[in-house]
Amino acid sequence: MKKDRLRIIVEEDEEALSERGARLFEEKAIEAAKRRGQFFVALSGGSTPRAMHRRLPFRPSIPWKAVHLFWGDERCVPMDHPSSNYGAAREDFIGKVPLPAERIHPMPSRMPPGRGALGYEKELKRVLGLEQGDLPRFDLIFLGLGRDGHTASLFPGQDAPGECRRLVVAVKGGDPDVARLTLTFPVINQAREAIFMVSGRDKAKVVRAVIEASDRRLPASRVRPARGVLTWLLDREAASLLKEKTLNQR
Ligand code: 6PG
Repeated sequence: MKKDRLRIIVEEDEEALSERGARLFEEKAIEAAKRRGQFFVALSGGSTPRAMHRRLPFRPSIPWKAVHLFWGDERCVPMDHPSSNYGAAREDFIGKVPLPAERIHPMPSRMPPGRGALGYEKELKRVLGLEQGDLPRFDLIFLGLGRDGHTASLFPGQDAPGECRRLVVAVKGGDPDVARLTLTFPVINQAREAIFMVSGRDKAKVVRAVIEASDRRLPASRVRPARGVLTWLLDREAASLLKEKTLNQR
């Protein structure tokens, strides 16, 4: 990936990581709202982003009236289930910011998964419209990284990471091992910016495998925004196995 399209930010700890993530959200939202009047963002699930989400209500300049909120993936469970990514976001910030309901686009997690995937594709096309090549283009997509190298709900050894036509697919797997909906790489790699937010020593090995070895068996290695920037936002522990040379790309 060209040097100017890859950046690595290392923060001291998870708290500083979350603060930086909230600041990046705010900066990208302001920029997109100014340039295009809208900010299309997809949140990642799991536990890492929750501290960042809880900081969003305290970022004074986020232009919420220009924000359209989507998800990169969702577990097919009720929205009030502890594993629901939407449910977690609603608890962490959605109810505390002036974001109109019609700008919040949870994945349809209660439909049969195949139908839910088609429904979300329609929602993406309706709201984001279609860029050339008929792909919706997010301003920002947040991504997490699993120890097995998955991102969103694109898991190693499954077909979904190789999907090149569909925008959203239904899969089963992960922890919890449930049915899920996930954006596919054609959409992820159309983003203006994709940000991996990763913390903790238990992720250091897979961070190195994806960033330094570009191990293609790991779905996260396929995140390469074609016309955008890839940002790795790491805490010191998650970055602890990266070479100095890699870190100097910052
Ligand atoms: C999901 C996530 C998934 C997550 C990683 C990291 O819904 O499971 O989108 O891709 O980001 O598994 O999860 P943690 O942040 O909990 O380690």
